[in-house]
Amino acid sequence: MTTQVNLGCGTHTPYDWINVDYAFGARISRLPVVSSLIRRLNVLRTDWPDGIVIHDLRQTFPWADNSVDHIYSSHTLEHLNKQQGRHCLKECFRVLKPGGVLRIVVPDLDAFVNYYTLGRIKADDFVDALGVCYVPDNASLLKRLSGPFVSFPHNCMYSAPRLLEILRETGFSAESKAPFESAIPGIHGIELADRTVDSIICEAQKPPR
Ligand SMILES: C[S@@+](CC[C@H](N)C(=O)[O-])C[C@H]1O[C@@H](n2cnc3c(N)ncnc32)[C@H](O)[C@@H]1O
Repeated sequence: MTTQVNLGCGTHTPYDWINVDYAFGARISRLPVVSSLIRRLNVLRTDWPDGIVIHDLRQTFPWADNSVDHIYSSHTLEHLNKQQGRHCLKECFRVLKPGGVLRIVVPDLDAFVNYYTLGRIKADDFVDALGVCYVPDNASLLKRLSGPFVSFPHNCMYSAPRLLEILRETGFSAESKAPFESAIPGIHGIELADRTVDSIICEAQKPPR
């Protein structure tokens, strides 16, 4: 049987993947009374799909060495800081079977820099465009106060050459891919076209034994 893990799934939870997330909303959606109270305060969504494996990617993964065929992760690695991101990639390497495939989609720093250079992002909007703040400064007081606890801002940005280099340093062979171009047979069931825009797609393989 194929074991496939979707790290940082958000609310996109294809049935044939083990969908993993650690969002505060996903955690408290298991507690009906608390989640109905939070919903009324309107600070975060609590209508998360059932069946999500609650796990913090900054911690050791709950799968055995060499046990996973495919790992997919879209717009999640950039929420971890540099050290946490390296730890996460090492854990991916550990749990993947020899020959197993890791596919990562993250925002492309080069795309944002190009937009800025072309004048499509103004200087004072650049930090907002990178998504590195908890909440926009025009958000409500409640959202600003709760932001550090319930939001996941971007903590590390990547370019394709740098992410490929990091993947190779971790032990993978790695290459850039186009949307839906993949060694993962069910890629159309998990990749979302709108998440590939202005993004890097890198696919890495753990060396076969
Ligand atoms: C921008 S969303 C991406 C959701 C989906 N994969 C997509 O492409 O639309 C990032 C997800 O990563 C999750 N995340 C961030 N840090 C995490 C962590 N340390 N452990 C597990 N999940 C995390 C967030 O809860 C959020 O659901």
